Amino acid sequence: MERELTLEIVRVTELGALAAARWVGRGDKNAADEAATAAIRSMFDSVSIDGTVVIGEGEMDEAPMLYIGEKVGNGLGPSADVAVDPLEGTEVVAAGLSNAQAVIAVADKGSLLHAPDIYMEKLACGPQLAGKLSITDPVGITLNKASQITGKSLSELTVMVLDRERHAGLISELRKAGVRIKLLLHGDVAGAIAAALPDNDVDLYLGSGGAPEGVLAAAALKCLGGEMQGILLPSTPQEVQRCLQMGIADPTRVLSMQDMVGSGDVLFAATGVTTGEFLNGVRFIGSDHAETHSVIMRAQSRTIRYIKSVHFLPKKQFPAEIPAWEQVSSL
Ligand code: FBP
Repeated sequence: MERELTLEIVRVTELGALAAARWVGRGDKNAADEAATAAIRSMFDSVSIDGTVVIGEGEMDEAPMLYIGEKVGNGLGPSADVAVDPLEGTEVVAAGLSNAQAVIAVADKGSLLHAPDIYMEKLACGPQLAGKLSITDPVGITLNKASQITGKSLSELTVMVLDRERHAGLISELRKAGVRIKLLLHGDVAGAIAAALPDNDVDLYLGSGGAPEGVLAAAALKCLGGEMQGILLPSTPQEVQRCLQMGIADPTRVLSMQDMVGSGDVLFAATGVTTGEFLNGVRFIGSDHAETHSVIMRAQSRTIRYIKSVHFLPKKQFPAEIPAWEQVSSL
């Protein structure tokens, strides 16, 4: 994977975040998602890859853009798998809350898991714990192992979990064990990444969330030297069928990093839409400038770059599908 691609990819997530940010707090998650999707799709045309979307906005018949199988990029660079969530945290943006991002992972062709849009049980951790925990262990055992390996007492460990009814049992076990818990409203890609960032206080990410988000997070964790383990949670015969159609012969087995992101190089980029675990959101400055905050990483080098950009909005190439700012303002 070309090193220069990281900068090309971050320009794509930046435009997606700028487009979505115009919808912050407006109560319309679909409009926010459509704006980010159209911006990202149009910006991909300038990226030097021969990309195929393997995780995107859905199947060809249900998504007009960034659908699974769609070709993206200018076709001039390496053949690559693309996983994209133009707006990770649609409801967060609609409600004007924190932790929404535009997210893209690019990997060698054939290496990203074609994850169906169902739930996945997840365990994510940083380099110190990578390879030493098992998602099939009871939570208490995982916490004790994490405590021994990190040298932290249980009360010094911090575990991040999505705040959901389905996690009531998990949260009660964590409380009984005495660890610190950080509850997330939405956005478990950021949550899983938080567990592996060198300058973050989160030790572990546990619980279930979207499977496509699991693969995106696994891409970032590979760049950080961390680990993601997952177990798909099909809840209906149709969801089992969906797993089989996507080439996952045993939908109940533990998915490793190798299963989710392969063994080759991976790039990961995210730009904050609203301020979250490790990225600031878009900040509009006056009527014609906006500041974005992004992270880009590459598995091969494990460099983590944070990029703060100031954009002059009249020069930005927003696609025609996106309503002009004046229209959004007068809705
Ligand atoms: P969307 O961007 O589709 O709104 O997803 C946000 C999110 O919080 C993901 O980060 C997470 O994986 C998933 O929703 C969890 O799903 P649910 O809200 O059904 O628990």
